[in-house]
Amino acid sequence: MTRAVAAPRLASLLGDFARDPAYLGLADGVRALITDGRVPVGTRLPSERDLVAACGVSRTTVARAYGALRDAGYLVSRQGSGSVARLPPGRGHRGDHLLAPGVEPGTGWEDGDVVDLTCAAPAPVPEVLEAFRRGVEALPAHLGGSGYYPSGTAELREAVAESYARRGLPTDPGQVVVVPGALAGVAIAARSLLGTGDRVVTESPTYPNAIATLVRAGGRVLGSDVLDDGRDTQGLSTTLRQVLPRVAYLIPDFHNPTGVLRDDEARARVAATLRRTGTTAIVDESMVALPLEDQAMPAPFAAHARDAISVGSVSKPYWGGLRVGWLRVPEQRLDGVLAERLALDLGTPVLEQLVAADLLAAGPEVLDARRAQLRASRDAALTALAARLPDWSVVPPPGGLCLWCRLPGPLSTALTVRARDHGVLLAPGPAFAPEGGLDRYVRLPFTQPPAVMVDAVERLAAAWAETLASPDTAGRAPSPVLVA
Ligand SMILES: Cc1ncc(COP(=O)(O)O)c(C=O)c1O
Repeated sequence: MTRAVAAPRLASLLGDFARDPAYLGLADGVRALITDGRVPVGTRLPSERDLVAACGVSRTTVARAYGALRDAGYLVSRQGSGSVARLPPGRGHRGDHLLAPGVEPGTGWEDGDVVDLTCAAPAPVPEVLEAFRRGVEALPAHLGGSGYYPSGTAELREAVAESYARRGLPTDPGQVVVVPGALAGVAIAARSLLGTGDRVVTESPTYPNAIATLVRAGGRVLGSDVLDDGRDTQGLSTTLRQVLPRVAYLIPDFHNPTGVLRDDEARARVAATLRRTGTTAIVDESMVALPLEDQAMPAPFAAHARDAISVGSVSKPYWGGLRVGWLRVPEQRLDGVLAERLALDLGTPVLEQLVAADLLAAGPEVLDARRAQLRASRDAALTALAARLPDWSVVPPPGGLCLWCRLPGPLSTALTVRARDHGVLLAPGPAFAPEGGLDRYVRLPFTQPPAVMVDAVERLAAAWAETLASPDTAGRAPSPVLVA
């Protein structure tokens, strides 16, 4: 497998770089692309000659820039494979992000004055309680049997199949397998598709727990840059063609963490590439019910890629505490998926499935209210960021739960440490990087009420000022957190 970035592509990613002196501008630009994960670690850079032509600079400029990058640990020259991107030790590596959730006792801020922005998970919609009451009333119909429904209860499988049909993808309830949340769904799908060492391409950044799950299923995970507006699929297509992965894990509907929504044309293009590369998509649709602009939604990705396994969940629209999700599986893959499902557990709790089916059948008002709250929180956070942190940049997401903020320097890990001193818990950018990097980004989920978001940005502004004044956090590392 050779991963390479062609000279014209690198030149377009670099854009205008400072030319005084040009070699430093070029080196800075390439370094930023590597630390941001846009040129993933392990990618071969163009030859000096090709880059000279693509960037319109002299051979000496490119040679000096590559030399500076090599000296700083961002490039390694390998016999026969040219210059390959890498990260210096200790710079923006992912680290462990799947540890104890919440606030540790004795840290000084366990008193409730903490804004936890580590999880993109909102509180339950108020209708959850009523749905539980109705679920208890419906439960006796299930009390005559064992309670094991490895594929899910008929009510929920029908409700899920209907929801796909409404979105333009006819689905038989027999294709639906209910699982304990989307993450479990990704794990089951991955285990049914992957063998040890099989390559998996994900977007970079991507959802951290999925990276861990794909690795545990034996996958070798490689990232591909996800661009800001969701229309540019060139980078992803190139990566797919170069890597020829067995599986691609994709989040086309309000991607976590960027919020990007892929339009129909982009979906069709990616699906066509997947067909050519013999790659099966695991499509994570966790955020699909959260458009925030009243926009019409594209058809589900599986409408373009019939072979794809789609993953859905009630966690983001209704409540994560239900632990109910599902897989939509093409007929020919059902046996493999069910075998993996039974190797994991024997079913999802019956009462929660009844509650989930009840919520899915509820009128649009429930989700309308959820979306209105999220919109208000997103907009409050964006306004506060523009006022208090004008040197951060963020593309307003058209839906989902997160802002993906670009910092003016690779300081996300240091900021996360300082933010904790101000009672704001964050997951640093590198947690979202399949292969390291992304320390120039920080994710802000807008799942708290508007006033809390504004308060969080105030505190972050103070933490940011401290980070700029003293970027070295003297060996203090971000606390381990549960990222969702
Ligand atoms: C993209 C994505 N997939 C899966 C999950 C996990 O969802 P669930 O609670 O349904 O397991 C999340 C939650 O943060 C998510 O953002």
